[in-house]
Amino acid sequence: MSLRTFFEKYPERRYIMFGGKGGLGKTTFSATTAYWLAKQGYKVLVFSVDPQASLSDIFQRDIFGKGAVEIMPNLYAQEVDADRRIKEYQQEIRQKILDMYGLDQVPQEVENYIQAAAAEPAMEESAIFDAVVDIVIGGEYDYYIYDLVPLGHALYYLSMASVYDEWIDKITGLRAEMAEYAQVAAIMQRSRETEEDKILRELQFIKNRINTSSGILTDKQKTAFFFVLIPEEMIILDTQKAAGLFAKYNVPLSGYIVNRVIPPELADQNIPEYLRNRLEMQKGYLEKIDKVFGREVLARVPEFERDITGLPMIERVAEVMLGGAA
Ligand SMILES: Nc1ncnc2c1ncn2[C@@H]1O[C@H](COP(=O)(O)OP(=O)(O)O)[C@@H](O)[C@H]1O
Ligand SMILES: [Mg+2]
Repeated sequence: MSLRTFFEKYPERRYIMFGGKGGLGKTTFSATTAYWLAKQGYKVLVFSVDPQASLSDIFQRDIFGKGAVEIMPNLYAQEVDADRRIKEYQQEIRQKILDMYGLDQVPQEVENYIQAAAAEPAMEESAIFDAVVDIVIGGEYDYYIYDLVPLGHALYYLSMASVYDEWIDKITGLRAEMAEYAQVAAIMQRSRETEEDKILRELQFIKNRINTSSGILTDKQKTAFFFVLIPEEMIILDTQKAAGLFAKYNVPLSGYIVNRVIPPELADQNIPEYLRNRLEMQKGYLEKIDKVFGREVLARVPEFERDITGLPMIERVAEVMLGGAA
């Protein structure tokens, strides 16, 4: 099967992700697939939470923190400003404390706690996750293409359900401590029961969102997760390992895309020994990839003569990766 037939055969897989190590081509393939699907007439959003802002680079537009920006008809790109989400999140917590206890200023001690809690990786994850949930739950697009940050993170992300249970425990603990601060300050104005009701309602709301979106992100019927690799020894080994982990976490894998293949037809030309050796070496690794991943390899993308930036370049990649645009 080819990547193109994959999309034709499984139109219900509307949540598309490319995983793999940094620098292998995830952003390039996210943008290319988004471009191709948009050309097919689908309304597509490609989005990222990576502060590296690489969608801005590939589309040659500054889209960071600007919401969904139209790149061309049907194609929208969005880069989430995670830091801003965290700040908004902290502000929300402050406001809740002020409202709950009828204060007009957050006590310094509690403020310190909020600062410390915001530095927790779990907090950052939750802010990012919240942003992703908002995007995915919106339901405005035919396709959502999630330009992932490198693999470890992706895996973490996709096993969110358990991460979120932990996070909820943390938040519950945090709230309990805040209640203590409040008591010490003798400013608690509402009954404990009301407060607990509120917290419970909120946690249930959060849980509901988590279930909905992690459901989407790990649903075999709706999600396609592709691994990007290149013909190199270490990457092949890493990819095998990662695939094993994905299987362990029950994250469905849809196939592999091999990037940076030196065009084999160069061998018929008068080329330097150096390049001939590299071609030979790649040939071996490509054979190994075929042996290991076999029919799950959905596309081979050549090494281009320059970086992939701008729509004309993306169009060229789309042609080889997906067999021509529109
Ligand atoms: N097939 C290719 N030919 C030439 N340059 C490529 C190719 N694939 C990716 N690149 C370039 O390699 C760099 C890393 O790619 P990128 O998609 O940003 O990787 P990732 O998102 O996995 O970190 C980018 O500068 C991109 O333009
Ligand atoms: Mg990237």
